[in-house]
Order: sequence, then structure tokens, then C-alpha cells
Amino acid sequence: MTTVIKNGTIVTADLTYKADVLIEGGTITAIGPNLSGDKVLDATGCYIMPGGIDPHTHLEMPFMGTYSADDFESGTRAGLAGGTTMVVDFILPGQGQGLMDAAKAWHNKSGRAHADYSFHMAITWWGQQVFDDMEASVKAGITSFKHFMAYKGALMVNDDELFSSFRRVGDLGGLAMVHAENGDVVAELTAKLLAEGNTGPEAHAYSRPPQVEGEATNRAIMIADMAGTPLYVVHTSCEDAHEAIRRARQAGKRVWGEPLIQHLVLDESEYFNANWDHAARRVMSPPFRDKKHQDSLWAGLQSGSLSCVATDHCAFTTAQKRFGVGNFSKIPNGTGGLEDRLPVLWQHGVNTGRLTPNEFVAVTSTNIAKILNLYPKKGAVLVGADADLIVWDPAKEKTIGATAQQSAIDYNVFEGQKVKGLPRYTLTRGRVAFEDGTVHGQEGWGQFVGREARPAVNRALTAWKELTAPRPVTRTGIPATGV
Ligand code: URP
Ligand code: ZN
Ligand code: ZN
Ligand code: ZN
Repeated sequence: MTTVIKNGTIVTADLTYKADVLIEGGTITAIGPNLSGDKVLDATGCYIMPGGIDPHTHLEMPFMGTYSADDFESGTRAGLAGGTTMVVDFILPGQGQGLMDAAKAWHNKSGRAHADYSFHMAITWWGQQVFDDMEASVKAGITSFKHFMAYKGALMVNDDELFSSFRRVGDLGGLAMVHAENGDVVAELTAKLLAEGNTGPEAHAYSRPPQVEGEATNRAIMIADMAGTPLYVVHTSCEDAHEAIRRARQAGKRVWGEPLIQHLVLDESEYFNANWDHAARRVMSPPFRDKKHQDSLWAGLQSGSLSCVATDHCAFTTAQKRFGVGNFSKIPNGTGGLEDRLPVLWQHGVNTGRLTPNEFVAVTSTNIAKILNLYPKKGAVLVGADADLIVWDPAKEKTIGATAQQSAIDYNVFEGQKVKGLPRYTLTRGRVAFEDGTVHGQEGWGQFVGREARPAVNRALTAWKELTAPRPVTRTGIPATGV
């Protein structure tokens, strides 16, 4: 059975042109004029683009005393409804748990996925077993390793562990990733705020000012430089972090920054809403920032100093958020966005003229596929690529609301936002999984996509080279004569 998408305009990260797309056996087999196939999808007035890749999700993840509410079933279903055809989810090993043991648990959890997925591995503790397991992880196609510089007493790793792990990632040709916030300072500020009676959700934002993110981003970049590994900074939310990333990139370092759709369009005033639930539902780390930081993130996407737009989809219900009544530090951190990332970015990016449709494709799909070594299987409209595609209707409109969403939670942080630009069809490996507002899911359709390691490009020019060069012994013992 062949499928052909006709009468549309193909939009990739670098080209815009009119052509039909032929699909057979889950991959694109021809692109050109006047193609025919068994099943015809009409793309009149629409763009044919690579499906979105969300490089940052937490599905059914144990966190802060509970589990994130969307699992691989509802999470990938939400993605498809919004044009996202792949997620890259974080495996979170428990303290003392082997990495491959945790990977097995994640493979078990992902069995009901409607769309393809890949994994990052989190390094949540350090020891010989983790060092050894990292090689097994790379061999199993899990080649990126995330480190939390925050969540002290739970997931946080210290600088010595960060340096050891980064060196290991560099040796293995993997990709180091960081959640960059100074966890020690956050812990101090949290204790002070609580002691002063600041228990509400707004205090979450006070406890994590931009400086804690800027400092940690700088520190991670310098440590990665000394370790000779490329670095991917997740959820870059402020100018302080963006500045560090810009500086590193200008110096030739392979450092990438990932703003979230939430930080691009929602600001810190959300935490001052008089309604406790409203504010708590938006508690995530890093917190939403003011306009100045939002402008910086948009500028980064426009200039190329920031590379991808993610969601960090880690959704909790209102009931779960209420674990933190009386103590903001107990509010499970995280927000949703899988279904909304593409439409909201199109609305605030393309419809305002801040991004071209090609730049939209780059930051939602192609750049991500390249950085994570998924390209051109994913992130491309090319013969031989997986037919993970969206037929995007720039004239289709809706108002975002929780009642019509796929996510399992009972609210939506973008509630009430009007968007123009939505998928008409979403295809996952050639299968039409979303059509005219309806998801035609197939549990278990999604496949794990392993990724290969590659040599650490940074080693040619970073401090790692100097630091690891053999040094002559310049002095031994006690000087023969004193001063
Ligand atoms: O608040 C957030 N971001 N929750 C998810 C876990 C993480 O830090 O990415
Ligand atoms: Zn994080
Ligand atoms: Zn509200
Ligand atoms: Zn995250």
C-alpha cells in the first residue's frame, strides 16, 4: 500500500517548494510532481514538514513523591495531535540503581507508545557501576547523558561527579546534558523563604532567580570544556544562561541551548495569580521569567545561538500539585506542552514574523535530529527518511483548552490561547495517526530508535587538550636551600 501527499508545499529547514510525497513501507520513496499512490492525502493550502521531535519529556517518571501523569500512551497521543511524531524521554535511575536496569524499566513503560521514541540516560549518582554501565548504555543506543546540578539531596550531582562523568561521556563519544541551576543556592534560598513564611507557589520563583541558572550554565560549560565533551543545556530560560551559551559557541565550543515553549510565551506573572492552583500548576524548574528574558530567548532562536524548542513535558494533576499546599518546595515541578508546542510556537513565532517557516522546522525538528544523531532518519523530508510528517494547515484555528486535550491532566497552562496554524494530518512512519482533529492511535506502533555515538568534536580545540597533555615533572622533594 502506498500513500501520496498531493498539492502541498514542502517546507524543510532550508527549502520551500511545491512537490508531492510518496510513502511506502513507512519511508519516503519519492518526492516530485504528479506522483500517484493507493491512498491520497490532500495538502492543498498546506505545508508538508518533518514531524516535530520533542527532545525533552518525562513520561510516567517517579519524581517528588509521585509519578508524572502522562505516560507513553497519553504522551505520544498528545504529541501526534499537535504534530510531534517523536519524543526523547529521560531514563531516571534510582540511587544505586544500575543504568541498564533502569533502561529496562523504561523499555517496559514505553510499550504502549503511539509514536517513535528514544531515550537519554540521567546520571543521578556516581560510582564504578555507573562508569561501566555508561558504555553499555552507548552500545544500547542511549548515547546522551543528563546531569542535574539542582534538586539537592535527590538527583543533584556535585562538580567532581560532573567532571568524572563528562570525561567518560567524552571518551565514549556521547553527548553530555545538564539541568543547570545551582542546587546549593536554591536549597539555601528555599530554606530562608520558608523560614520567613513564604510558603506559596510564588516563592518557587524567588528561590530560583536567573543568577542560579546563569552561574550553573557557566560552570557546566567550563567543566565540559575541561572534560573535552560537547554539552547540551536543557531548558535554557534566561539571558544569564543564554549569554554563557553564546560566548561558548563564539569560542567554537559545541554547546547547544534548548528553550521551552512555556518559557517563550508564559512569564513570571503567572505565579502572582491570586488562585493558588493557577500558580502551582505552573511551578516548574527553572521558573517562568520576565519579558526581558523571553526577548533574549526569541533573539537566540532568531540568531541561531539557541538551537531547539522543547517542552520538558512533565505533567502533574491539580491534586498532585496540592501536595505542596503550605510548602511550595513540595509542589511537584513540571508542566505539560506536548500537544501545544508546535501550534503555540507557530502562533508566537511564525505568525508574528519572528521565525520563518523554515526556522520553525529547524528548531522543532531538524536541529534536534542533527544534534541527537537521528538525522536524516528523522527530521527530514528526503527519500529514504522515515515518513514522520505533518501536513500543516496555516489557516486552521483553535482555542487551547484542557477539555479537548489528549493529556491526562485536568488543566492546560496555555488555556484560552488562540492559535492559527495546526496539523491537518500527522503521519508516523507513513501511518495517518491524526486527521481532521481526531487521533487514530495505535498502541505499540511506536518503536525505540537507538542512536550512535560519535567522536567528541570538542577535543580539537578545548582546554581538555592542554589539561590532558603530559606535563614534565618540574620539581621533586624539598628545595636544597631556603630563602
Ligand atoms: O520542573 C521540571 N523541569 N520538571 C521536570 C524535571 C526537570 O528538571 O527537567
Ligand atoms: Zn530539568
Ligand atoms: Zn487560572
Ligand atoms: Zn526535564
